[in-house]
Amino acid sequence: MGILEWATSPLGQRVPIHIAWFLIWVALIAGLAFMIMHAIYVRYSAKEKEFASDPPSAGAVELPARIPRHSLAARLFHWIMAAAMFTLLFTAFLPKVGIQFNWVTYHWIAGSVLSLSILFHIIHATFYLDFWSIWPDRSDFEDARKRFQRYTGTSAAPPRKFAKYPLENKLYHGVVMLSGLAVVVTGVCMMFRVRTVFFPHNPYLFSDMNWGMMYVLHGLAGVGFITLTIAHVYFAIRPEKLPITASMIVGSMSREFYLKEHDPTRWVVAGLSNDRGIANGD
Ligand code: HEM
Repeated sequence: MGILEWATSPLGQRVPIHIAWFLIWVALIAGLAFMIMHAIYVRYSAKEKEFASDPPSAGAVELPARIPRHSLAARLFHWIMAAAMFTLLFTAFLPKVGIQFNWVTYHWIAGSVLSLSILFHIIHATFYLDFWSIWPDRSDFEDARKRFQRYTGTSAAPPRKFAKYPLENKLYHGVVMLSGLAVVVTGVCMMFRVRTVFFPHNPYLFSDMNWGMMYVLHGLAGVGFITLTIAHVYFAIRPEKLPITASMIVGSMSREFYLKEHDPTRWVVAGLSNDRGIANGD
């Protein structure tokens, strides 16, 4: 049993047509297994977070009671993207596991919403947000090494508090970005295979082999999103993460939470040096 399904093209060539659908169950089980193992790790094995003391400059400014974290535009993007993502997952995979309905139209409409929202996000993040805040830097890796050494009992200095996003979030964003680009680029091409309002129907745009590879890449990245979405929702509802999740609704987090987990010199509360200051609410 392979991970791809094959067919013979009119030219007699053996071509892949899409992924084997048992991968849906593999992705679902991987997501649930990750969730259970992480919950056990936190309950029985993880140590209390310990951070190096704040640098002296960190406490020199007065902070507002609520620290802005996500602007209204960023929050709208997040929730529109989430709605599109769930619609895409359900419309793509329910018919494959036996719940039949006319899914293609809902799917390409949700796909178009996701594609446009990602385009908006790229422009917004590049020109209006703190672009580099989501990319890992050298300190993230140094601190990850210290955390791992301390977890395994090797002596190491405590890590610094986080910048706006911890390393794990940055890595997750990187994987989602790559998988997202894969489904969007292949999905836009695949719209030529079905009837949409955007492009003329043209199933001959690519060779059978190229179409097949496109469907395979779309399917692989698609099932990957099952696991990624389970992990994301799991972290969002973990009790210790609820203040972060709430900030994706209300836009801000408490000063106490910000100071407990974040280093004000790494996630700079913009404008504090010249007035009362507001944190970068990306
Ligand atoms: C996480 C997001 C997505 C998932 C999980 C997903 C999943 C899938 C799956 C499993 C299929 C069936 C492929 C096959 O039969 O081999 C499919 C088809 C399709 N998807 Fe997506 N997709 C996603 C995003 C998108 C996006 C962003 C677009 C458009 C920009 C899109 C457009 C399409 C189209 C046009 C088809 C072809 C339907 C057909 O040929 O009958 N998808 N998708």
